[in-house]
Amino acid sequence: MDKDIKDLKVLIDSDTLEKRIIALADEINSYYEKNYNNEPLNLICVLRGAVMFFSQLSKYLKMPIKMEFVSLSSYGDSIKSSGKIKTINLALPNFNNENVLVVEDIVDTGLTLDFLMKFIKHNCASKDLKLAVLFDKKCARKYDVNPDFSAFETDDKFIVGFGLDYMGYYRNLNYIGYFD
Ligand code: IMP
Repeated sequence: MDKDIKDLKVLIDSDTLEKRIIALADEINSYYEKNYNNEPLNLICVLRGAVMFFSQLSKYLKMPIKMEFVSLSSYGDSIKSSGKIKTINLALPNFNNENVLVVEDIVDTGLTLDFLMKFIKHNCASKDLKLAVLFDKKCARKYDVNPDFSAFETDDKFIVGFGLDYMGYYRNLNYIGYFD
């Protein structure tokens, strides 16, 4: 691998991540309590990048939760989007008019989520379909995707850790880092 962990700089430490995710969970709880009186919610984890955020966030949600997992990729081993989506697993049930919250690590160009949100909308009978992301890289947006809940905004840096990878590595870090 051409990048070494000792060159990684800390962007967001684990304590800040934890606190912000708890605050975001409060925001999500308030929205569903106010609008839906805590009806059951289907949480969709977009593997593999959302794995840490998804498990952390879900621990603080108060309504009855069901979990689904899809696996999509648009980056491959590069630090730029390939512009194409590879669907590895897109097996989702019919949600029978229940609410759905998609949980993703980062929205960059928006290609992946534009595809996934449209797919769910047209195929899965969701009621209120919403999107929560750990990072919103607004400056890179090419598709009309606007997260409903977002923990942090980030600039065009390539970041790793807490689920986010470079060539498959660094997902296990409990902080967010970047290479200069
Ligand atoms: P998009 O389809 O261009 O929005 O790209 C979204 C996907 O690209 C994310 O789910 C990540 O897997 C990956 N990605 C985008 N930016 C970064 C980054 O800064 N670090 C690691 N992965 C990233």
